[in-house]
Amino acid sequence: MSNQIEKVIVIGGGGNIGPFIIDELQNAGFEVAVLSRTSSSSVFPPNVVVHRTNYGEASLIEIFRGFDAVVSAVATFSTDQQKTIIDAAVHAGIKRFLPSEYGIDSSLSQFAEALSFESVKKQETVEYLKGKESTQMSWTALCVGAFFDWVLKVGGGLMGWDIPARKATIYDSGNQPYEATNVRQIGRAVAGILKHPKETENKYVYVNSFTLTQNQVLAAIERESGERFQVTRMTTTELRDEGYRNVEEGNLGLGFPQVVSSAIYGYGGLNNFSASKELANALLQLPEERLEETIEEVLKERDVPLQRRT
Ligand SMILES: NC(=O)c1ccc[n+]([C@@H]2O[C@H](COP(=O)([O-])OP(=O)(O)OC[C@H]3O[C@@H](n4cnc5c(N)ncnc54)[C@H](OP(=O)(O)O)[C@@H]3O)[C@@H](O)[C@H]2O)c1
Repeated sequence: MSNQIEKVIVIGGGGNIGPFIIDELQNAGFEVAVLSRTSSSSVFPPNVVVHRTNYGEASLIEIFRGFDAVVSAVATFSTDQQKTIIDAAVHAGIKRFLPSEYGIDSSLSQFAEALSFESVKKQETVEYLKGKESTQMSWTALCVGAFFDWVLKVGGGLMGWDIPARKATIYDSGNQPYEATNVRQIGRAVAGILKHPKETENKYVYVNSFTLTQNQVLAAIERESGERFQVTRMTTTELRDEGYRNVEEGNLGLGFPQVVSSAIYGYGGLNNFSASKELANALLQLPEERLEETIEEVLKERDVPLQRRT
């Protein structure tokens, strides 16, 4: 059987990261379709075929037949549903499965302790995929750290940033290096993995746009915008405790990102993989990106006048 991957089906193609994955897969010459819930109101580009499913195994097998790879970018709180999708993919002859990872390093044992949420099953999904290695289907788990430009654009205090209000929260000393990747670079990395199936087979693959500290990001934003930000300080332990408190009180939407942010910024040592692991940027032919250019683009989109301070 040829190793080559040509036809790819993407799950979560209308979500936060999905559109960038679809776009970069198409740019790299793959034939791309999406899998979407029957009940979904997600919107997709007109040039992709949309397959609707109720996520029953029979429906998934029928849809997957003829595809070479499944790229899952399913929502965080639906990652526990990936076992059925994996079983169907094996039955349908899929060659490569990318689980919905795209974050902190779930290969580390401390991941489970740092992020214990009932429906977030990233580590367990990779373990399940390892159990399928004797079939025709292999897997790749892509670690990218924080979605760098996306987080800054979303704002509202997410991961400490609120650009329109000129406010930032700096965690611990602000000098902890962390990994962060722009969303288009994530799309390119997915395409790169599928262009290099042999080298990326049955392993975690690590990429980034930048290894940064929060203090460096704040300095770059202040430099490019010409404005001083109001800074609040907090520890990652306080942030994590507050996050779990919010979750216990029923506010998952606020609490979950707080817990993840504490891990992004250093809690548990889960998000500085460039210090100990080899990055695949060169293998996947990812372009080098410049922090200043990314910040400039973010500020333009957030409608902040650029007045670079020298
Ligand atoms: N590192 C970071 O900073 C960061 C940030 C955000 C996300 N992530 C990770 O990236 C991955 C994708 O996240 P995302 O934010 O792009 O996802 P999302 O936008 O929340 O959701 C992606 C898609 O999942 C499908 N979905 C939603 N609820 C579902 C359900 N109950 N059952 C089945 N499917 C459902 C929907 O697709 P249809 O409507 O087409 O069915 C949705 O468009 C996750 O693993 C997440 O943890 C990382």
